Amino acid sequence: MITIHDKNFVPYISETEIKEKVKKIARQISDDYRGLKPLFVAILNGAFMFASDLFKELDIEAEIAFIKLASYKGTTSTGKVLTAIGLDADIHNRHVVIIEDIVDTGKTLHTFLPTLEHSQPKSLKLVTLLHKPEATVHPIAIDYLCFIIPNKFVVGYGLDYDGLGRNLKEIYQLEG
Ligand code: XMP
Ligand code: MG
Repeated sequence: MITIHDKNFVPYISETEIKEKVKKIARQISDDYRGLKPLFVAILNGAFMFASDLFKELDIEAEIAFIKLASYKGTTSTGKVLTAIGLDADIHNRHVVIIEDIVDTGKTLHTFLPTLEHSQPKSLKLVTLLHKPEATVHPIAIDYLCFIIPNKFVVGYGLDYDGLGRNLKEIYQLEG
């Protein structure tokens, strides 16, 4: 068990499980996008580690760009989605793959996807490390999913609890 700020977390998904799943998803994406020079758009901050590991495992020509959105404070969503750093890449006519850390209520992507669609990419798909189906408020189509998890707060592998825990190599779940 570990303690971050005032809360206890227990190990939930191991480093080995994450690595295996990331490789598997990267193989699928490589097969689906070979020759299409996709543009990956990773959503900061949470997806940085997943995006990095996934991108390294791709064996196709591909580009990556980053955007910073934020809707979380503490362990519950504030409901407001802010764009803190915008996208510098032109997605018009590109095959775009969004990289998210977690789809929780779906609010973030529900707000953000129409903005991207407005720029008329050739295709738009989503890969996410985690998904909490029980928390869904806005249903989001997920094209590539690593792990389905229950509606409990998690940290590690890029995900944080008020700034801490991102550097953990495995994913931890809120105790209790
Ligand atoms: P929504 O509700 O918009 O949430 O789908 C997406 C964003 O909320 C953050 N999030 C979490 N972060 N542990 C975290 O560290 C969690 O359990 C969790 N659930 C949601 C995350 O940044 C995601 O992009
Ligand atoms: Mg995030």
